[in-house]
Amino acid sequence: MGRKNSKNCGYADVLIGLQYGDEGKARVVDMLAKDYDVIARFNGGANAGHTIETNEGVKVALQQIPSGIFYPDKLLYVGSGCVINIEKITLEIDRLKQINVDLSKRLRLSCQASIIQPHHILIDVQTGKTIGTTRNGIGPCYADKAYRMDGDRLLNIKLGDLNDDPKKYFAIIKENLMAAAKMYGLSMKEIGDSDDLIKKLEAGFRKIKKHIESDTLYLEKKAQSGARILFEGAQSIMLDITKGSVPYVTSSNTVAAAAYVGGDLSPSYHRKTIGIAKAIMSRVGHGPFASEFGGKRSEDYCMTAVNGKPKYSQTVEIDYGVEKLLKSKEDFDIGVALRILSREYGTVTTRPRRVGILDLVQLSYAIRMNGVNELVINKCDVLNVFTSTKKAKIPLVVGYKLDGKNIDYVPGSVISYYKVKPVVEYLNSFRGTVSHIKDFKALPGALREFVLTVERKCGCKITGIGVGPERDQFVKIN
Ligand code: GDP
Ligand code: IMO
Ligand code: MG
Repeated sequence: MGRKNSKNCGYADVLIGLQYGDEGKARVVDMLAKDYDVIARFNGGANAGHTIETNEGVKVALQQIPSGIFYPDKLLYVGSGCVINIEKITLEIDRLKQINVDLSKRLRLSCQASIIQPHHILIDVQTGKTIGTTRNGIGPCYADKAYRMDGDRLLNIKLGDLNDDPKKYFAIIKENLMAAAKMYGLSMKEIGDSDDLIKKLEAGFRKIKKHIESDTLYLEKKAQSGARILFEGAQSIMLDITKGSVPYVTSSNTVAAAAYVGGDLSPSYHRKTIGIAKAIMSRVGHGPFASEFGGKRSEDYCMTAVNGKPKYSQTVEIDYGVEKLLKSKEDFDIGVALRILSREYGTVTTRPRRVGILDLVQLSYAIRMNGVNELVINKCDVLNVFTSTKKAKIPLVVGYKLDGKNIDYVPGSVISYYKVKPVVEYLNSFRGTVSHIKDFKALPGALREFVLTVERKCGCKITGIGVGPERDQFVKIN
């Protein structure tokens, strides 16, 4: 029997972030979910922070559970390409229950998904500072998946293994913890009480056991019988382990094609790719960011930590005088003001996000690399802030110069990417709030011009723009 052989079979769309993460993927998934039957994750884990704000003032930040939670008839699937933090997913399920979201019959977790073991988190905390990881053990977990075994000792432990023989595999998790502690010279204090760690993990596992999906053709069967599937990417193109700004990336493939590996479905079901970007870009963690306001100074400032906590958090920056910063000649100051006004602080880490001008070279790269069919630009409401700058115009990066030559692609190595000089153009700005507007024609002329310019320069249809964080604060464009 061939796949996709019946006219009643379903299809899959893939939604991905096109920049450095946090483009507002979740709010678009939440909006689109009503037209699908299954919302599925295919990569990453608790490093993601996906925020949904309903019109009724409910705000949730999801880490591992797909963003279709508010539609009780939709199934939520976590694919084999994801890495599962058992304790965190248990807490997430409990938190959702408190707001009357019951996942008991809706959530399926692939038995082939690897689990984050205690030593992954310990190693990440020890080794991830230079990249600025989220300290969720993501890199070490994917590394163990690639290593497979150390001699006779199994390194990659999957949900299905724990389901088959919990006693055996929890014992291996403890062995892995002890071996890693020895290798990294961790003290007993750093490890904590290992028996207690394992007990907590066992308790968490008992709670999520019923969600484990043993049928490795689960999603294929759903699609074959007509299900419409929406894949929800985590992280983003520039954080892809191969195509991003390596090594300042996450440890999974974030590109659209990865949905058909980590999402447990054949690519023959693919219908279209939806790309999400935001009008003012942001990045958390270290690494090249060509259009960053204030360049290296901003990178260093945002990454400054004291005792493992961000020094310039929202509570510190809230007291800065925004009007004065906006009028400054220094791009760095404008960036700080934009961060404060657009609330760009990490959902998972609370770090100040580095902010930058919308970069159309980078965006076009992501669109071309992924065959994006439809583009959504969030946070267009924030563009009005530029009216208060000295130039009173919206900046856009429209070209890259590398060693004096124009290039139309993202350099494939970090040294070259740090050397890139962006070419900036300016568009007219607009005043006032646009968050209440529902119709493209009713938007200020300058914002319409911005949308049309981005669409033209990127060669991709823009199907909607975010004009505020709430579900309804969105303008659909036909
Ligand atoms: P994700 O990781 O891509 O799902 O994005 P995050 O949830 O980490 O970050 C996006 C942030 O921007 C969230 O706080 C959203 O509520 C907010 N947001 C999304 N779209 C808009 C928009 O159009 N305007 C404004 N002002 N905020 C938005
Ligand atoms: P969502 O899905 C933004 C960044 C981290 C760090 C690098 C590696 O919410 O868009 P990791 O913990 O994955 O090993 O960290 O990747 N990062 C993200 N940045 N949004 C995310 O997810 C991210 N997930 C990881 O800040 O620079
Ligand atoms: Mg996020």
